[in-house]
Amino acid sequence: MNSGSCKMQIITMLSCILVGILLVSTLPLASSAKLKVGFYKSTCQPAVSIVRRAVNKAVSRNPGIAAGLVRMHFHDCFVRGCDGSVLLKTVPGNPPAERENIANNPSLRGFEVIDEAKAQLESICPNTVSCADILAFAARDSSLQVGGINYAVPAGRRDGRVSLSDEVGQNLPSPFINAEQIAQIFARKGMSVDEMVTLSGAHSIGVSHCTSFSTRLYSFNATHPQDPSMDSRFAAFLKTKCPPPSNGAARDPTVALEFRTPNRLDNKYYTELVNRRGLLTSDQTLKDSPLTSKIVLDNARNGATWAAKYARAMVHMGSLDVLTGSQGEIRRKASTSFLFLSYITMSSGSCKMHILAMLSCIIGILLISTLPLASSTNLKVGFYRSTCQPAETIVRRAVNKAVSRNPGMAAGLIRMHFHDCFVRGCDGSVLLKTVPGNPPAERENIANNPSLRGFEVIDEAKAQLESICPNTVSCADILAFAARDSSLQVGGINYAVPAGRRDGRVSLSDEVGQNLPSPFINAEQIAQIFARKGMSVDEMVTLSGAHSIGVSHCTSFSTRLYSFNATHPQDPSMDSRFAAFLKTKCPPPSNGAARDPTVALEFRTPNRLDNKYYTELVNRRGLLTSDQTLKDSPLTSKIVLDNARNGATWAAKYARAMVHMGSLDVLTGTEGEIRRLCSFVK
Ligand SMILES: *[C@@H]1O[C@H](CO)[C@@H](O)[C@H](O)[C@H]1NC(C)=O
Repeated sequence: MNSGSCKMQIITMLSCILVGILLVSTLPLASSAKLKVGFYKSTCQPAVSIVRRAVNKAVSRNPGIAAGLVRMHFHDCFVRGCDGSVLLKTVPGNPPAERENIANNPSLRGFEVIDEAKAQLESICPNTVSCADILAFAARDSSLQVGGINYAVPAGRRDGRVSLSDEVGQNLPSPFINAEQIAQIFARKGMSVDEMVTLSGAHSIGVSHCTSFSTRLYSFNATHPQDPSMDSRFAAFLKTKCPPPSNGAARDPTVALEFRTPNRLDNKYYTELVNRRGLLTSDQTLKDSPLTSKIVLDNARNGATWAAKYARAMVHMGSLDVLTGSQGEIRRKASTSFLFLSYITMSSGSCKMHILAMLSCIIGILLISTLPLASSTNLKVGFYRSTCQPAETIVRRAVNKAVSRNPGMAAGLIRMHFHDCFVRGCDGSVLLKTVPGNPPAERENIANNPSLRGFEVIDEAKAQLESICPNTVSCADILAFAARDSSLQVGGINYAVPAGRRDGRVSLSDEVGQNLPSPFINAEQIAQIFARKGMSVDEMVTLSGAHSIGVSHCTSFSTRLYSFNATHPQDPSMDSRFAAFLKTKCPPPSNGAARDPTVALEFRTPNRLDNKYYTELVNRRGLLTSDQTLKDSPLTSKIVLDNARNGATWAAKYARAMVHMGSLDVLTGTEGEIRRLCSFVK
């Protein structure tokens, strides 16, 4: 083959990769999608049992190894993805590997268990089972042996070739940080606050060096030598085990992370936090932070629910940034890469390499694009293709007409979809009118009345659809399509909407308050509301970008202008020229309720869905407390800055988060009904 055709192949391959990246970026959870339960069934059938036997043997001898293996999997997945990079030893002449980082050395344990399993596997199925998969199996087997928690581990990870100590620090939580900071680290991996608190339950086993918490005992701060958040009898006991940190570094003993059942993976960790007996600052903060305390209480109360959530979160964590297919390699030994760093100078001699890469790329795309979205298992893109082919076109036409007349309608429809999904799931309950004699419906709640707009657009699309395909298209789906069409028309953001939602029959105003963020709350409180829906901090901040369009009533923020607090009549977090301008639009809140005008939520491009919302927050021109707090809270400020800087990335994340939100607690199959009119149940 001549080099001209080789060039072609490379160009084809590149465009294939680009298309692949675009496709992937519109799909949620693509990362876990490539792994498969039973991956080695045909290529190395005994893989799973060999790892289990090695783990069981080691843990029977020393139960602490279970904690070590769970922790090692965590430290692997959070640094460069679950690619076994934590297992690699430093190669002389190269920078230090992850293993050398203070987070891993000397505390990480269990390398010999992985090595033993790997040696056995190489002897019976050489070059087949990755070290990354062995570690994922070993973490599950550990959880089973010391906690009775079992789960299927999707496999097919490949081993990475790079391991850098320098990458560890920013990706792993230190024992000294607070709940918001830990949540931020998990959010950057796409993991929710609930998952973070749930996985912290692994601290129900294992030990910690005294130096990881002894300042809490001896030198907390200038006024309190001892951390007042720690039970004082517990502190007194710990002092008998741990010397003051200043006493030279000669002795650094270890103590159990959880004293009640130190070798049992269970929910006693949370009970101990409730009793103020958390060992590390990063443990106790989970009980003490408003972001996480409710989750701690729930986990303390219900061990079975916690265990089920733990299993799910471990599977999610095990899918982070994995290498699959032809990426990476299968190492021969756990601790040394077959081709360490050689990927940089990958041989480019023949076209075969490129064609192979191209083929696997195409296969990869086909695989990815046909995989169901895990978060919306029962919904399907193109759901009405055979039953009501013009469904999506009819909705789009109704939306385009309404938005062309009044761009504010786009904001109204996106907000309506959000208010639908967060209250009883995306079941069209927000569209239902109160039935006389029944309690008031969601529509009547102050969060929706009088501010919710766009009911007539949904009604018009529904009427047209009933005339051509009666009893087929749900109101919940119409609303999901309409939110997408709005995002496209005013923001150029397009995405495929998985459909097949059915309409609910219940709508209660009383359920709205606790499920929707109010304009007066802070980032941690908003994150908590999203976390209860399984949505991450990043998704929360990203969807808040919908406030780049739409309006707000003055009463939703005028205390920020006139009566902030006893010492500051005006909220100091708001740019003072912006506040002065807003005062020309909004009367003081005390001036009777006669006038309550509206103003744009974002003044630079008020009718364009874009990332200017974030730029405005950076300029301290957020309208609502719940907007400005995203810039000002350590939990979210970095995400705001990222979104302000990179509009295209934000738009891609927005599309993904909308699909995720549209899958919340949906009714499908034979659940619910298809309404005739969107405002009444059948
Ligand atoms: C020390 O910590 C306590 C409890 O968190 C706090 O109330 C106190 O203000 C702190 N003192 C100083 C000097 O920071």
